[in-house]
Amino acid sequence: MTINAVLLGFGTVGQGVYQTIHTHRKELKELLGTDIEIKGVLVKDEHKIRPIDQDILVTSNFSDLLKIPQLDLVIEAIVGCEPAFTYNKAFLQKGIPVVTANKEMVAHKGSELKRISEKNDVSFSYEAAVAGGIPVIGVISRLLHANRINKIEGILNGTSNFILSTMRKEQTSFEETLQRAQEKGYAEADPSNDILGRDSFYKIMILSDLVFGGQPDWEQTECTGIDEVTIENILKAQEVNKRIKLIAAVERDESETIKASVKPVLLDSEHPLYAVEDVDNAVNIQTDLLGNLLLKGPGAGGLPTASAILQDVALLFGQKEKEETVYASARSIAKRASPY
Ligand code: NAP
Ligand code: HSE
Repeated sequence: MTINAVLLGFGTVGQGVYQTIHTHRKELKELLGTDIEIKGVLVKDEHKIRPIDQDILVTSNFSDLLKIPQLDLVIEAIVGCEPAFTYNKAFLQKGIPVVTANKEMVAHKGSELKRISEKNDVSFSYEAAVAGGIPVIGVISRLLHANRINKIEGILNGTSNFILSTMRKEQTSFEETLQRAQEKGYAEADPSNDILGRDSFYKIMILSDLVFGGQPDWEQTECTGIDEVTIENILKAQEVNKRIKLIAAVERDESETIKASVKPVLLDSEHPLYAVEDVDNAVNIQTDLLGNLLLKGPGAGGLPTASAILQDVALLFGQKEKEETVYASARSIAKRASPY
């Protein structure tokens, strides 16, 4: 048996996943107990030349993917809320698990897709949608159960952090540094989502849903990006040993009101997010029992994001495999023990 998968999107993230399935075939096989095989890829322009095996179906027609027999897994990494939501919903309703990196879609439609996945008893996971390779969704949803989380504060956009760090260190212009972030595959197809703070906004809304079970009113939530931060602002901050960082935060106050914001903040050198540089993201989770937990790591790019996607895949199939092994051995023990 192999895991038959389709990839929606073959850009930075889709190619990162495709490449990792090949380079880490042995590790994945050990983990999953079987191979993953990409059976089809959905793209916008099917005539583009791509580094992909000739046997794989590359199509711009979604319904071609629905015809693939015995599909076990969908990995979605296309751009924007639609048509991604419609596609993911269709797969979940057919009982096929979905792993997504698409934060805009999860921020808008994550709750609805979770309900659909529960109704159809199928998995919907989105580790890669927040903070790139950092396993923040997994830590919050599986490892902090006894804690009450009071607040989350983080650097959630790799492109902005790369731009602010590089401008300070190399005194490059905003435009030149943004272009470098695009070449490295950090920036979104439309980089205004990164620099205007919207990408961080989607991610903090996803964390709000996860931690507090809801989102604050989007219209009432500040979302300011780094587009008006100048090299003069950055260097002036440095003179007094401070740094400007794009900070996303969410908390629930005593009256149970959820409040969030995304904005550039001047940080002191003692602040836990001060030393988070380049494309790194960091998430500071403030809890009642554990105190502050700081998770830091690469926040964008094909391979870090593939790491988060394949972590979701491993949880999904690795666990299933283990359960099946446990049930199979329990069944065989029961059979041997049975007088019939
Ligand atoms: P990308 O490089 O722009 O690639 C997007 C891919 O999706 C392309 O293959 C494109 O097809 C395809 N696509 C776009 N719209 C489509 C549509 N309507 N129907 C079918 N295919 C469509 O983007 P990316 O950087 O890989 O990001 C993909 C997703 O992952 C986004 O939601 C992004 O927010 C998220 N993400 C990105 C990163 C990162 O570091 N880049 C990290 C975490 C999450 P063509 O190739 O034909 O243009
Ligand atoms: N454009 C995003 C960023 C990709 O720069 O953080 C990771 O979500």
